[in-house]
Formats: sequence, C-alpha cells, structure tokens
Amino acid sequence: QRNMATVRSANITRVEHRISPEERLARNGHAGAVLWFTGLSGAGKSTLALEVESRLFARGYQAYVLDGDNIRGGLNANLGFSPEDRAENIRRVGEVAALFARAGMIAISAFISPYRADRDRARSAASGSFREIYIKADLETCESRDPKGLYKRARTGEIKEFTGISAPYEAPESAELVVDTSAHSIEECVQQIVDYVQREFAQN
Ligand code: PPS
Repeated sequence: QRNMATVRSANITRVEHRISPEERLARNGHAGAVLWFTGLSGAGKSTLALEVESRLFARGYQAYVLDGDNIRGGLNANLGFSPEDRAENIRRVGEVAALFARAGMIAISAFISPYRADRDRARSAASGSFREIYIKADLETCESRDPKGLYKRARTGEIKEFTGISAPYEAPESAELVVDTSAHSIEECVQQIVDYVQREFAQN
C-alpha cells in the first residue's frame, strides 16, 4: 500500500502571497491561530470547541471548528482508526488548520489526536500560531458520561481499537493550556480558553 504521506509531487514552485499576516491581523483584529484540542472521547472537546467558537464569533473573531466526526464524513471519509489512519487523519487536519491560520482565522480543531508525534507534526505545520489545549478528563469520568454509548460498545469488543480501552492515548506533556473538565464546569472551561485566546491573539 502506498503511503500518501511520503508521496511528493515533483516540479513544484511555491507562490508567494501578497497579503501579509500583519494586514490580515489589522483587518480581523486578531492573528490567525490553531487551537488544537486533544483529549479522550467524551472529555468535552466538541462541546467546548463549539461554545468557544460561538463566544469568539460574538466578540468579532473569525473562528471555525474542525471536528473529528464531521471531517471524517468528508475529507477523511476513507480513514478508519488504525494508528496509520489516525496519523493520516491528523496530518490532513493539521495542514487544513494551518491554512485557516494563514488565512487569518482561528481554527479550533477537536480531534482525539492520541499520538504525540502526530500532534507535534500538526504543530510544525502551523509553526508559531499553534497552541495545544489539553481537554483533560480521566477515563473513568469519560466512560461514565459515555454520551454516544461508544465506551459500552468498546468494552464488549464490538468497537475495536477504541481510544482509552483498546488503543492508546498519549497525554500531552507540554500543552500550552490544560482544561480540566472533570473538575470545572463547561462555563469555567470556556472562559479559561476564551481568556487565553484574547491574551495570545487579540491585536494589542
Ligand atoms: S483520532 O484518533 O484523532 O483520529 O479520532 P477523531 O478523528 O477525533 O475521531 C474520534 C471520533 O470517532 C468516533 N470513534 C472512535 N473514537 C476512538 N476510537 C475508535 N475506535 C472510534 N470509533 C469511532 C467517536 O465518536 C470519536 O468522537 P469523540 O468526539 O472523540 O467522542
């Protein structure tokens, strides 16, 4: 099988953009960024991502959520949950999120992204505008929430390679922000993230 990640097109000449990041910052009132949420299924990634997006949008930010379940229905419809497919999932999303950031927007990506190496690669793709945000909740908490009934099905073996049960989750070691959803309310977590974005990316 051909490894897409290692295929390189020949005879490529990069085009230089004429609009600078500073010009985009001046128009939008904020820099472009990648807010990379990572965490177990049921930790609260999607809930927080959508709430942060709404909150930022209301404050005039250009923000957009890239969510695992949605992207896997389109761009990444050909990928499953093997380590290789997860790596490719995260590689593509990392590139897409970096494009959003270069376009001056705040990309909020909500993927389990269980492998440190894959997250680090996404960080490299977006260089300085990447911030890793660990949506932290222990397995017991996530399993007791089980909003989609997936943990139950993973325990019976119906779902294979399920993160936290039969596939690994490598917790971040140097996330820029850690948001603990088992210890704080959704509102507190949202506020924590929005305050952080304001400090890091707002103009002035
Ligand atoms: S990954 O690991 O980053 O590539 O996963 P992601 O793209 O975020 O997709 C996770 C969602 O897919 C559903 N799902 C599974 N998750 C983990 N392991 C297995 N085997 C699996 N099968 C299906 C599940 O709904 C995940 O969504 P969240 O929002 O995390 O619960």
